[in-house]
Amino acid sequence: EGHHVAVADLIEAHRHVPGALLPLLHAIQDRLGWVPPDCVPAIAEALARSRAEVHGVISYYHHFRSQPPGRHVLQVCMAEACLACGAKDLAQHAQRLLDCDMHQTRADGAFTLEPVYCLGLCASGPALQLNQALHGRVDAHKLVELLRQATD
Ligand code: FES
Repeated sequence: EGHHVAVADLIEAHRHVPGALLPLLHAIQDRLGWVPPDCVPAIAEALARSRAEVHGVISYYHHFRSQPPGRHVLQVCMAEACLACGAKDLAQHAQRLLDCDMHQTRADGAFTLEPVYCLGLCASGPALQLNQALHGRVDAHKLVELLRQATD
């Protein structure tokens, strides 16, 4: 499969860097959108770690996806400053609108919904990231608008 080539390139670029595991996993997810479980053996071997160790790191950090994301990724900030100004309601609204739970990808593959913990927009919460774009002060109305624009 194509992703093995991409992963092999990234492994080559990282294998001699001390403490390469996290940077490598980030690089793989940035490139592919997820960390395919079938690449774990190659990662483990290149970095002289056990497969269990690599699996452990991937599952410890919620950031890493073990399944490919949907076509659009909506990440709602659930950190303190955003929680203080309505992030919970916004997250619930997003779940209803998308008909999708947190950490899930909708059955039609259109959306993945995830919590994130601070997007650096704490002064203008609640904040979210839709695909590559950050948005602050998102209310229910603005969320509907953003989702409409993304899927147009
Ligand atoms: Fe939400 Fe920082 S707490 S952006």
